[in-house]
Parts: sequence; C-alpha cells; structure tokens
Amino acid sequence: MVYKTVVILKLIMLVNEIDRVLGKPYYQTNSCLIYQLDCLDAMIKIPDNLINLTVTSPPYNIGKNYEKNLPIDEYLSWCNMWLSEIYRITLSTGAFWLNLGYLSIPDRAKAIPIPYLIWDKIPFYLIQEIVWNYGAGVAGKKFFSPRNEKFLWYVKNPDKYTFNLDEVRDPNVKYPHQKKNGKLKVNPKGKNPTDVWQFPKVTSGKNRAAKERTPHPAQFPIAVISRIIQACSNPNEIVFDPFLGSGTTAVVALSLKRQFIGFEIRADYCEIAANRIENLLTEKQVDAEQLSLF
Ligand SMILES: C[S@@+](CC[C@H](N)C(=O)[O-])C[C@H]1O[C@@H](n2cnc3c(N)ncnc32)[C@H](O)[C@@H]1O
Repeated sequence: MVYKTVVILKLIMLVNEIDRVLGKPYYQTNSCLIYQLDCLDAMIKIPDNLINLTVTSPPYNIGKNYEKNLPIDEYLSWCNMWLSEIYRITLSTGAFWLNLGYLSIPDRAKAIPIPYLIWDKIPFYLIQEIVWNYGAGVAGKKFFSPRNEKFLWYVKNPDKYTFNLDEVRDPNVKYPHQKKNGKLKVNPKGKNPTDVWQFPKVTSGKNRAAKERTPHPAQFPIAVISRIIQACSNPNEIVFDPFLGSGTTAVVALSLKRQFIGFEIRADYCEIAANRIENLLTEKQVDAEQLSLF
C-alpha cells in the first residue's frame, strides 16, 4: 500500500513536470494529455524513466499527406533520433511496440520492410516480431499484393517486463476438451494467440467503411491495440504514442483504464483524437473511475 502510494506520488510529480515543460495541452482529461507538437521537440523536454508502454506507428516516408518525403538516409537518421528519445523516457521495466510497413529505395528495393533497416539501431531488447496479416489492401500488378505489416515488440529489461498472456488468450480453440493423462490439454481461457495476428485494416469506402473509421488515412484497428495494451501494461500505468494520428492508442488505453500521453503534429488530427476520447467518455464514464493524474 505504502509502495503504491509512493509510486502514484512519483507519477504525479513527473506529470506536473511534463505540464511545466510542455505548456498547455491541446486536450486534457483526468487521465489523458494530448499535445499538438512535433514529438521530437517535445520528448527532448520530458524527464527520463516515465513511460510504461509506448505503442506507435510513425510516418513511413511513402508520400502520405501527413509526412515529408526525405532521402532515405535522412529518414533513418530522423527515426534514430526519436527512437533514442523513446528509450530514454521509458521506465526500466517498460516496453515499446513499433508498427512499421514498407518503403521503396531507388535502384535497390521496391518494397523493403522498414524493420530490416532499423531493427538493430533501436536501443531496446527485441522480444519478437509480430506479423499483422490484414485481409484487404492494394492489388499488386507485377508483384504479390502486400497483406502484412510488422509490429516489433521491444523491452528495456528482458528479465523484467509485463506479459499478461491470460488477458489476451484466443478463446477460439478447436478441441477445448482434449485431455492428456486425465488433464485438460488446452488452457480453459484459450490458446496463445501466436505471432501472426489476423485483424482487418480499418477500411474506408462508401459501403465498406469500418464503424471505427475516421478521416485519418492510416488508423490503427482498435482490436490490435487492445491486445497489445492488455498484454503489455497494467491498469493505471502510462501509455504513450508520439505519433498519435486519430487517437486510437489513446481511446484504447483509456477504455482499459490506463493513463495516456500523446503527441500529434497536426491540429486536425488532434481534433479527431479529442472527439474520439470525448465520445468514449460520454459512452462509458471511464475517466471518473480512473486515478486522476493529470
Ligand atoms: C501513421 S500515422 C499514425 C496513425 C495512428 N496510429 C492512428 O491510429 O490514427 C502517423 C502520424 O504521425 C503524425 N506526425 C508526423 N510527423 C510527426 C511529428 N514530427 N511529431 C508528431 N506527429 C507527427 C502524422 O500527422 C500522422 O498523423
């Protein structure tokens, strides 16, 4: 109990410090802070050892409307800068989940998975790569249609990190009653979901748009982020997304009773994120039941 109080007091002090160095947030609730800022400029000002779990997807340097197209070397050096900052602000027991797709390198590669270019430049310890297989996407003409992206799961300390497998077991078991020596072979809570995850992308289009769809062109599916946050953090811990976009990480973190900090450079996306959080709070009243840190 005393330990818990000390931890909470320490968190409150750190969060007050963030408030002091970053100024007025774009949007704030009792358990959520969103800033319209360049994440690198913002992270540099944040104290060390604050974040339990970062879940994010950066620009892939492929010409989307929210990114600059940089020469590959410049893109990779920029990635190194923000990746080092995420490492510095993560707690010693914390984790980092990084979603990455593909990019082209002139005269070298049509579609190289970005993890091949950076996985070992990231100061964390790599637990594993998750393949996210989604059902629909662009149709390849002179190559196979891409249907996967990766999530790299990193931790700071391979001997001490959170993995709540029971929270995310897959209940879809083929032979749930199978026994060996009189004992059930399969965990009654379900099986390990493996390192290949099948979740649809957040689809757009007149008749096929997903219910959770916003105007953001690269939205995370709620189901994917729910699995990550449940498995790799605990209630009241701080979840962080430096490239917040439409706010999916925030919405999921808050609905799972975590605290949340996010940065997004564009005001229109901050607004989408803030509206999504407001809708969640109206629906579920989650904020009132949570620890008030912010
Ligand atoms: C791949 S999208 C993230 C989408 C998000 N996962 C979601 O669920 O909506 C990347 C986001 O990073 C934002 N961004 C680009 N450069 C940034 C920077 N330097 N600092 C903060 N945000 C940035 C873009 O505006 C874009 O919304």
